[in-house]
Amino acid sequence: MGSLSMASTLIGRLEGKVALITGAATGIGEATARLFVKHGAKVLVADINDELGEKLCKELGKSSAIFVHCDVTKESDVETAIDTAVAKFGKLDILHNNAGIGGIPNPSILEIEKSEFEKIINVNLVGPFLCAKHAARVMIPNRSGNIITTASTCSKIGGGSSHNYVSSKHGVVGLTKNLAVELGKHGIRVNCVSPHVVPTQQSKDFYKMDDEGFGNVYSILKGVSLKPEDVADAVLFLASDESKCVHGHNLFVDGGITIANSKFSMFE
Ligand SMILES: NC(=O)c1ccc[n+]([C@@H]2O[C@H](COP(=O)([O-])OP(=O)(O)OC[C@H]3O[C@@H](n4cnc5c(N)ncnc54)[C@H](O)[C@@H]3O)[C@@H](O)[C@H]2O)c1
Repeated sequence: MGSLSMASTLIGRLEGKVALITGAATGIGEATARLFVKHGAKVLVADINDELGEKLCKELGKSSAIFVHCDVTKESDVETAIDTAVAKFGKLDILHNNAGIGGIPNPSILEIEKSEFEKIINVNLVGPFLCAKHAARVMIPNRSGNIITTASTCSKIGGGSSHNYVSSKHGVVGLTKNLAVELGKHGIRVNCVSPHVVPTQQSKDFYKMDDEGFGNVYSILKGVSLKPEDVADAVLFLASDESKCVHGHNLFVDGGITIANSKFSMFE
């Protein structure tokens, strides 16, 4: 068990905190919502999938988790979601900007349509911008807050996905750095978490693989096979006071894949 996982067994690290998680009906967002509630947070599950979002909140208990329909590309939805956090729980401490859609299977620059490029940029980059804008609106007066965006190993390396996806994930890292400079002055921390391939609906669709296919192929660390819960552990670290000096950072949860180049290694 890694140190982050071990730390996550200590309960109550988010006691009294209010968090809004986008794309929380499934996958990494769902795992984070479950972990946050376990650690005492009140959570707004914000998603376009009403059925799964409502189901999750029912399971977590209505006093701990509330579903809010929110398409992150629509500013009015985002505004309503942030205002719902304040109306129901009195404040917003944590925004986990997690909603995202995967790259397209046909990646060539010669074939990609402008509309396809824009679709992913809209959800993966404009969405986090809108959510950060409205979260900052309610966080600045409190002089505290915490914004965490799910980027990807595609925020660092090229070729792992299509142009639109890689551009969107590089973009959120830039947004995070700029927000860290502006919002740090108000006591608001801003960071990214960057997973490598995690078996969720998004990656299963993209790589056309089932759970078995993932294994530890996408890690250079023996015995490690990344799960949504491992990413949630890292988000919990960034959301909790244990990371109080971590700011403007992009935390990779990737089994070391981004530090190695198999074509230039004496250990291959
Ligand atoms: N799965 C991976 O391998 C992987 C790797 C690196 C980064 N990521 C990133 O992690 C995040 C979560 O992905 P996941 O793998 O859990 O995917 P997922 O498909 O399991 O879940 C994504 C969730 O986002 C929601 N969503 C989609 N569009 C939305 C919108 N416009 N507004 C609000 N909600 C929306 C979906 O309904 C779904 O519940 C994404 O930002 C993704 O790019 C995933």
